[in-house]
Amino acid sequence: TWTMGNIIDDQVAAIREKVGDKEVICALSGGVDSAVAAALVHKAVGDQLTCVFVDHGLLRAGEAEQVEQDYVAATGIKLKVVDAAGRFLAALDGVTDPEAKRKIIGREFIRVFEAAAREVAAAGDVEFLVQGTLYPDVVESGGGTGTANIKSHHNVGGLPEDLKFALVEPLRTLFKDEVRQLGLSLGLPEAMVWRHPFPGPGLAIRIIGAVSAERLAVLRAADLIARTELTAAGLDRDVWQFPVVLLADVRSVGVQGDGRTYGHPVVLRPVSSEDAMTADWSRLPYDLIARISTRITNEVPEVNRVVLDVTSKPPGTIEWE
Ligand code: XMP
Repeated sequence: TWTMGNIIDDQVAAIREKVGDKEVICALSGGVDSAVAAALVHKAVGDQLTCVFVDHGLLRAGEAEQVEQDYVAATGIKLKVVDAAGRFLAALDGVTDPEAKRKIIGREFIRVFEAAAREVAAAGDVEFLVQGTLYPDVVESGGGTGTANIKSHHNVGGLPEDLKFALVEPLRTLFKDEVRQLGLSLGLPEAMVWRHPFPGPGLAIRIIGAVSAERLAVLRAADLIARTELTAAGLDRDVWQFPVVLLADVRSVGVQGDGRTYGHPVVLRPVSSEDAMTADWSRLPYDLIARISTRITNEVPEVNRVVLDVTSKPPGTIEWE
């Protein structure tokens, strides 16, 4: 029979066989797939694995800490953290086009990861790169190796010729729900295992307009309120994703106390989906929406209006960019 214990034992044996006594590197994104893949490889080869976490400064509140502290505490993994927030912000300065943002973030990610990988490689005989490719990614890309999941910049294609690795993809036969079970069996933090999908370019594509440190802080505050209230309502697993989007170039008039405000709207975009190819807007309870709206407008001074996106996919996409 096919149990989590079997999967772990089989994969551990296969990874050991493949890697031997060579060194392995893995880019962590904060997402569940890379976290589970790395934990599995760590179980197989221990400190032959070095994980690299490029903090691009575009994650949600608490997510970098989740990787740097909770994940390391749970796994004992050797982690190299690169704080590259300033660099990503500088590269994104003034950029408003969604695809331009993606390209810049992908390019900067490769550069930063490459530099980190060279440092790790200088210290040892690194031949392998771990990737959290899942079965649906394999199928989608026609069964090829290493090119799966074209949307994710954490799939580290584009490294220079002299820094090519063989891939270790221990999740290639698994579906998302199996990966979550595996993560729990490996002792990963629940918050990480049940994290909603989150785009590689992060909050940069949830700020409609140019990205800045101030705008990121506003969006992070609003997003944290929405996530906290969703969790408190016990509805985390009822939605596929719950993007919160800041319309940074839009302002509207409002009133607060006895003063006029001229602030920004945020959009709540909770969606239900099976695979992100199609989606419907989630019918969240109105009292939950109301609580989120009240808290955001009370607690985030730059935001004076909260709107709900009631568009399915198609014709809308899940993200606004
Ligand atoms: P859309 O907005 O196309 O999103 O309906 C479908 C799914 O993909 C995620 N997404 C991305 N993931 N890099 C990623 O790693 C990206 O550039 C990207 N754009 C969208 C999105 O969050 C949703 O889960």
